[in-house]
Amino acid sequence: MLELLPPPPTDPLWDLTYEYGCDERAERLNLVLGVYRDHTGRTPVMAAVRQAEIRLAERSESKEYRGLSGNAAFNRALLTMVLGPGGGAERAAAVQTVAGSGALRLLADLICRTRPGTTVWISDPAYVNHRPILEAAGLRVRTYGWCDPDGGFDSAGVLRELGRARRDDVVLLQGCCHNPTGADPSAEDWAALAELAVRDGWVPFVDLAYHGLGDGLEADLAPTRLLAARVPEMLVAVSCSKNFGLYSDRTGCAVVLGASDRSVRHAETALQNAARTLYSMPPEHGAAVVTAILEDEDLRTLWRAELDVMRGRIEANRGELTARLDALGHGTAARALARQRGMFSMLPLTSREMLRLRREHAIYGTTSGRINIAGLPADRVPCLARGIAAVLGSR
Ligand SMILES: Cc1ncc(COP(=O)(O)O)c(C=O)c1O
Repeated sequence: MLELLPPPPTDPLWDLTYEYGCDERAERLNLVLGVYRDHTGRTPVMAAVRQAEIRLAERSESKEYRGLSGNAAFNRALLTMVLGPGGGAERAAAVQTVAGSGALRLLADLICRTRPGTTVWISDPAYVNHRPILEAAGLRVRTYGWCDPDGGFDSAGVLRELGRARRDDVVLLQGCCHNPTGADPSAEDWAALAELAVRDGWVPFVDLAYHGLGDGLEADLAPTRLLAARVPEMLVAVSCSKNFGLYSDRTGCAVVLGASDRSVRHAETALQNAARTLYSMPPEHGAAVVTAILEDEDLRTLWRAELDVMRGRIEANRGELTARLDALGHGTAARALARQRGMFSMLPLTSREMLRLRREHAIYGTTSGRINIAGLPADRVPCLARGIAAVLGSR
């Protein structure tokens, strides 16, 4: 049977990570995957996570099945965090998932079960896995542009293109820290998007993967809360991979907001049924850790402080990179980078130039120009700036 299988495409990001692993140059720099690294280049276990894990190891009594929705306390805690106190949790349901990717897939399945062949609009460029996940679930994908020529959020263009979305469509929006561009809508832009959704009746599908790493937790969640307050129905995929550093524990949840209790309960059961046929139940450990943190004031305060430190380091890296590029005579590129938010920055380089950055300077970003600014040890920023300047300078 397996002899019949044609060579399948491999994942470009993991291919690049493999290539990086084979690169023997001492100065090599891996800015491919969206993973936070501290000043020593490590991806640490957050202290709040470590303390929660110690408590759990001492106190947990059973590893019995949790049920199809996973950990109920986790689901409640994430609903409160995402929607805010009084933010409509009573007209919402949450189902624990295998991280943000699992939430995207379960919600895509829910859309397909509700209305097969629904069109979902995604940004162009988008997170590399959006289209594959939606298409694997059987959905149609259309795109809307995201950036203006200077790399900023193209407010007029996005509103114009989404003006073509119809009542039965779903629009996927990243709640903050857009991957891969780092270009985010302003508060006014979000209000305009919410008005458009209300006017035209399409359903917002918010992907939240970087909340806390842009402008702070509350500020990063504000657009999602604004949308939730305005529209009758909404879907949210929540990841705890980045902001709790739980990448390999695969922790997240799928949230649905509906206009009636009946529709929300039906959607919750449909999500559970989808989980049942995919993996049955999500893993408990990460959800238990997040719950222990969010339910305990001391651990919550510690986690928030650590998240702020991570965000500060990302901002400092971006500030240092832009200042150095400016000093090296690349003010336009510097200004574009300075406006971006979150873990990623989009370099104004072509795919050929990104290849040169890799070959000539051992700096690994994606061919689209994306680099993980959070994966950069502070003492390597000058070398990154020099590499970019060298490539830009020989245009
Ligand atoms: C925009 C976006 N959504 C979702 C995810 C999925 O994250 P995970 O499945 O690791 O929680 C990512 C991961 O990089 C992402 O960038």
